[in-house]
Amino acid sequence: MHAISSLDHLPKRDLYAALVREAEALLAGEHDPIANAANFAALVWQQVPTLNWCGFYLLKPDGDLLVGPFQGRPACVRIALGRGVCGTAAATRQTQLVKDVNDFPGHIACDAASRSEIVVPLLRDDDTLLGVWDVDSPTPARFDVEDQAGMEALCRVFMASID
Ligand code: SME
Repeated sequence: MHAISSLDHLPKRDLYAALVREAEALLAGEHDPIANAANFAALVWQQVPTLNWCGFYLLKPDGDLLVGPFQGRPACVRIALGRGVCGTAAATRQTQLVKDVNDFPGHIACDAASRSEIVVPLLRDDDTLLGVWDVDSPTPARFDVEDQAGMEALCRVFMASID
């Protein structure tokens, strides 16, 4: 079993640095995408305060994003490319940092409690899209550029683990 120590006393930058090391240790030695995605979601859920959902949407051959391993309430199953925050991150291949979901045209409310979110596109080395990593919070403006940098660093650890 992997022991997880509490990090919520740390300043944000230190929290993400520690979390990157924890993710590297947790995912080391396994390359299966679903297994590593499941443990990655559980780790972030455990360690990052004030979330109400975190998880993966994976790009399927039909071109839709399909919900993957996650933590939180049951979520929307299928999202078309270009739709909502997740579909926008996938279509543009740019991280979406949304301070208030009510200001994001087309935001998909899987849980009415969600008020802010970050969605990071997951690109393989050959530049093809695996899917997106989505983190939601009930707190408006919960995430800033430090959270974005931290989540992007964590996603690099995840993508390197499934190579
Ligand atoms: N809010 C997302 C949908 C996914 S859920 O929040 C889990 C969006 O607009 O893409």
